[in-house]
Amino acid sequence: MTALREGSPRIVRREDYAPPAYWIDSVDLTFDLDPAKTRVLNRMRVRRNPDVPAQPLRLDGEELNLARVLVNGQGTSFKMDGGQLVLEALPEGTEPFELEIFTTCCPEKNTQLMGLYVSQGTFFTQCEAEGFRRITYFLDRPDVMATYTVTLRADKAKYPVLLSNGNLVDSGDLDGGRHYARWEDPHRKPCYLFALVAGKLVCRSQPIISRSGTEHLLQIYVRQADLDKTEHAMQSLMAAIAWDETRFGLPLDLQRFMIVATSDFNMGAMENKGLNIFNTKFVLANPATATDTDYANIESVVAHEYFHNWTGNRVTCRDWFQLSLKEGLTVFRDQEFSQDMAGSPSARAVKRIEDVRVLRTAQFPEDAGPMAHPVRPDQYAEINNFYTVTVYEKGAEVVRMMQTLVGREGFARGLKLYFERHDGQAVTCDDFAQAMADANPDSPLAQHLEAFKRWYAQAGTPRVRAQGQFDPERGTYTLTLRQSCPPTPGQPTKAPFVIPVAMGLLDHQGHALPGTERLVVLHEPETTVVFEGMDAAPVPSLLRGFSAPVILEHDLSDDELLVLLAHDTDPFNRWEAGQQLALRRALAAVRAAGPVHEPLDGAFLEAMRAVLRHPALDAAFKELVLTLPAETYIAEQLDEVDPQRIHAVREAMRRQLAHALHDDWVWAYEQHKDNGAYRPDAFSAGRRALTGLALHMLCLAARDNGNPVWPGKTYQRFKDATNMTDRYQALSALVTAGHELGQRALAQFHDRFHAEELVLDKWFALQAGAPDRDGDALPRVQALLQHPDFNLRNPNRARSLISTFCHANPAGLHRADGAGYAFWRDRVLEIDAFNPQVAARLARALDRWRKLAEPYRSAARAAIEAVAAHEGLSTDVREVVSRALAD
Ligand code: TRP
Ligand code: ZN
Repeated sequence: MTALREGSPRIVRREDYAPPAYWIDSVDLTFDLDPAKTRVLNRMRVRRNPDVPAQPLRLDGEELNLARVLVNGQGTSFKMDGGQLVLEALPEGTEPFELEIFTTCCPEKNTQLMGLYVSQGTFFTQCEAEGFRRITYFLDRPDVMATYTVTLRADKAKYPVLLSNGNLVDSGDLDGGRHYARWEDPHRKPCYLFALVAGKLVCRSQPIISRSGTEHLLQIYVRQADLDKTEHAMQSLMAAIAWDETRFGLPLDLQRFMIVATSDFNMGAMENKGLNIFNTKFVLANPATATDTDYANIESVVAHEYFHNWTGNRVTCRDWFQLSLKEGLTVFRDQEFSQDMAGSPSARAVKRIEDVRVLRTAQFPEDAGPMAHPVRPDQYAEINNFYTVTVYEKGAEVVRMMQTLVGREGFARGLKLYFERHDGQAVTCDDFAQAMADANPDSPLAQHLEAFKRWYAQAGTPRVRAQGQFDPERGTYTLTLRQSCPPTPGQPTKAPFVIPVAMGLLDHQGHALPGTERLVVLHEPETTVVFEGMDAAPVPSLLRGFSAPVILEHDLSDDELLVLLAHDTDPFNRWEAGQQLALRRALAAVRAAGPVHEPLDGAFLEAMRAVLRHPALDAAFKELVLTLPAETYIAEQLDEVDPQRIHAVREAMRRQLAHALHDDWVWAYEQHKDNGAYRPDAFSAGRRALTGLALHMLCLAARDNGNPVWPGKTYQRFKDATNMTDRYQALSALVTAGHELGQRALAQFHDRFHAEELVLDKWFALQAGAPDRDGDALPRVQALLQHPDFNLRNPNRARSLISTFCHANPAGLHRADGAGYAFWRDRVLEIDAFNPQVAARLARALDRWRKLAEPYRSAARAAIEAVAAHEGLSTDVREVVSRALAD
């Protein structure tokens, strides 16, 4: 990243892929670790690639001080070219030669957190995507795979623990209070999976025996003070190992599997071979400091990184355009794992709804905005900008559609064939799809493979328009499905997608009509399905389980949606019907002229009451149904967006729900508030979620009627809570409602948890996301920037305050005076000066500026132009803002 701060960024194109001119078979690295000056001796066995015309060896490097280059032990001539080290006088022929490179670097000045850096006195590395070149000169590309031997030398007192990939083969003391450890990784790997850690850490160890009888050691390394927060991550890891063996027959291939947690990390976690490095946020939990959401995230991220061991590490990507090969597939696998862990059908549906909500609130906007790109992008300036919801979440939906088209068993067969063919290789998304199709030759996937692969090639969210026609004379119901896809940057027109539409029919009383469940595979612009033997017009339940990542348009009446909400056998579509009903009302109120009144009608409120009071539905499901569509999701439905109006409408809807269902919220609270000793399982987490929503509603109602009872009870619950979920929910209910007790509770919360970094992040985030009232959000956030606990350099802390405000508080950010945009501009530039990756993510908060109504639109544009005009912008941020401004 940021190889060139000057000049225009080089665009990397997928079609330009060429195999490497050299292979590196083995790497022997020796590190003398020192925060100010670390010495790196890199001895490689290199040979020419016989399939490629002879040419110089060009090695990538960034921010390195080169001291020496030897070929077969002899000095050699070299030159530098744009950061690359170029060796021209290499031995002839294809015999391997030894290349030795000695460099130094400065980990303590590495603020980008890519390559080798220091966090709280401990050394960490982050090499994906292109961080290894910040450690040594190398062919920093994923199709060059080598075996690694790593020797770490460091001061023993300061860095008692020395870790790298693979197995520990030697260790001992050295002169001058130093010691060393040597690690050997038997698996060939691309350099982006290299890792080292050195510091004062302790670990939780867990020996396990696999189903096939092999013994392994699992370890989680943390700071001493965090050791009591590692149990859940270890449980999650063991569950993930067992699941991958059971469901896909994929065992752990290492004697030792380590996880290390760091407070300073740009992303969630990293799947380095045998030595995963995690953001503390996705490892550390105990009931007093972590919420149910944290517990669930830890389970899924620990599993995700573990699953990469097969999908990503054993079979890796040929080039970075294939990123979704490992990320989409691994997200799909972690989603399936979390569903299997959740257990009951309704808990599985809850997980599915949560995943779809992320897709629709984050990926759909990306697909409709200036950064829209295919799941397999065609070009980039900075690859770090393409670790996106499209590559990850939409990529996972593409894999899910394959499973839908070939069936669960067929999918497991396809994965097996994929590993039989490609274990140990660096491959493409085509190779994956081909294995799936070849293992299922009679499936609709095999039948439509070329067309199906357009999901990898074409950006944009397809729309499916459904129209039903009942013919009472013939007793037929004819369903017509038509697809289209709007243009995206560089792709004015699209060919048809292959869209699996899972569906069924209900009668108007809500009974499922037998024999009408099916999977319709839409692969042409339009298709028609005829159902016979219908006595009356049915209610169609379409796209069950969200069987494809599309926008479904239909003309169901409110009454029909109410039938689905009350009776559909598919829980996803029950939820979806409720969201549609709410969305219709929100959009009508946003579009109406004049002040916002009461957007919700009696029928809707009664339906919500019926769900809330339903004797058989799970609490978690109720909480999802009773949560209104997000402001950003409402905004996506509109051609012109007035964020203040949307906020006012949604707040009015929330208040109506609070008042009209007041007694029901009281009931829900009382029924679900006691859950005994904390356990993070789906059932009790669902009860806590519903309790939390009830408190939010009751505090909101109290704000209008001035009745102090519920704020008082909420404050009491805040003080008495025995776990972070309950405590945080109560705090959030008070703060969100703007109750004065919220301020007192915030102060007490800070007092109690000031030593817990991750809890302080919650404290900042809660205040950054709290609803804007008369423009108070921005000054509140500006004041918090000055708080002694605020630290811009720590990505988690910076995100908790700044990203929460810019990405999750639309009414706070979009101010008529443009001050929110000026704040965004200043923070983007400030952060870009030391951490471009984090800055570029923040920069994306104004992606959708073109849709804004005036005066927001012009003010937002001015702020983006100001960023673009800045000299010395990173490649990362430059790519984001120049795409935002491109017509
Ligand atoms: N591969 C990581 C994952 O599991 C993503 C990741 C972690 C990453 N750290 C990174 C990507 C730094 C780019 C830069 O999804
Ligand atoms: Zn991943």
